[in-house]
Order: sequence, then structure tokens, then C-alpha cells
Amino acid sequence: MRARHQRLYINVDHVATLRQARRGDEPSPVEAAAICEVAGADGITAHLREDRRHIQDADVEALATMSKSYFNLEAACADEMIGIALRLHPPQVTLVPERRQEITTEGGLDVAGDAERVGRCVRRLRDAGIRVSLFIDPDEETVRLSKKCGADAIELHTGQYALAGGGDGPALDALVHCAKLASDLGLAVHAGHGLNVANVGPVAAIPEIEELNIGHSIVSRAIFVGLPEAVREMRGAMDAARRSGAHSA
Ligand code: PXP
Repeated sequence: MRARHQRLYINVDHVATLRQARRGDEPSPVEAAAICEVAGADGITAHLREDRRHIQDADVEALATMSKSYFNLEAACADEMIGIALRLHPPQVTLVPERRQEITTEGGLDVAGDAERVGRCVRRLRDAGIRVSLFIDPDEETVRLSKKCGADAIELHTGQYALAGGGDGPALDALVHCAKLASDLGLAVHAGHGLNVANVGPVAAIPEIEELNIGHSIVSRAIFVGLPEAVREMRGAMDAARRSGAHSA
């Protein structure tokens, strides 16, 4: 089923990465979030990593209280992070895998290998009234296990699709298939990672996908055209793809 409006959540980690290069105050991810909201973002996403390499505790505190849109906190399945999430009580938490040496989140959650821990984290968050999404690879078995874990939503990892150059091919087919399966199972479907204005179209056109989380390409583009324009360009690319409806059988 095609969600009428596909939500664009902007990941502001990359603004914090630039700030941390100097360990100073600017640029502020909280200020960036406010600008994104005015420019048309439906929500703000931030990943508080265990190593605090970009987003800091004070950032998520501020985003949780000041974000005028919807705040999606990305966190690892670790007691410390679940504790912070329960205290800040954002409307949504996306559980993500974390490996210390990785440059960015490189693969989806290992739900099969860690079902008990993932299930426990999902339960603790949901019991507190927080919507829970699992960031997973587009793999049929992992979609089914996500449902069994009690998640409200999955976020399909679009990294392989982006690495393959976007467009038609097996990586897009896997996203289309898993989005449909998840929706049939009653899960809400999100997607993200590595998306830019050039490759977002085929993913935005998948009817079941109701939310995209995009960071790096928007913040990169903002250097040249400014943040509001970069947000508007992405919004325009998503809306155009949605209107053309390439996958609406
Ligand atoms: N979704 C998740 C779970 C992520 O970890 C990231 C990475 O920051 C994104 C979406 C956004 O990816 P990108 O920054 O490549 O747009």
C-alpha cells in the first residue's frame, strides 16, 4: 500500500562529525535540525554511538526536547543506550549494530544471531511506549525474525543498493521484495543509508516504504547550496519518484 506522504528524516550525525573535527561548538547538529525542520524534514535522526565519535549526549538531550518534528534516536542494543533511550523517551528508537572500527553502520542488525538480546531491547522500549524500528539487511528471514522480535517497523539497509550504483538490479529487487513482505506481516517499512538525489528515486517509489533516513548526501550537498536547499532538493526527488510510481503494480 502506498503511504500518501513519504517521510524524510534527516540524519544530523554528519554535522556533528564536522564539529568534532575541532572539538568545538560549530556546526551544531541541533541548529541544523531546526533548519531541516523549517525546510521540510518530517523528522530528525541521530545516532549516539557508544564511542561518541560524532553525536554527544548533550546533542540527544537537546534534540529530544527541542525537536519540533519527530525525533528518531538510533542506538545499539546495549544496556547503556537503552537506559538513555528510556530516560529521553523519544517517540522512536531505531536499533542498529555497532562495530568500533567501522567508518559507518556497515551492515544490518544480526537478528538471527542475537535474537534474545534484540527481543529484550525491543520489549523494554515498547513497554515504555517507544516505537521500535530495526535496521536490517533486505533479507527475507531477517524480516520475519524482526516481526517475531516484536518490532513495530524495520529500516531496510540500502547500502548495497547504493554501492551497486542504484537503479534496477538484484539489490533493488531485494528491497522491493522485503518491503512487500514486511508490510504483509504488519511491519511499517523505513529505508536508508547511502541514498542521494541521484539514486533515491527507485527506493522512494517502493510503495510500502513510508520513511527514508538520509544524512551524508544532504549534509555534503549543503556545503555547496546551503542546508535548506539541500533538503528541498531531496524532498523534490522523493516526491517526483513517488508521483511516477515506478513500482506500483
Ligand atoms: N539509517 C541508519 C540506520 C544509519 O545508520 C545511517 C547512517 O548515518 C543512515 C540511515 C543514513 O545514511 P547516510 O548518512 O548514508 O544517508
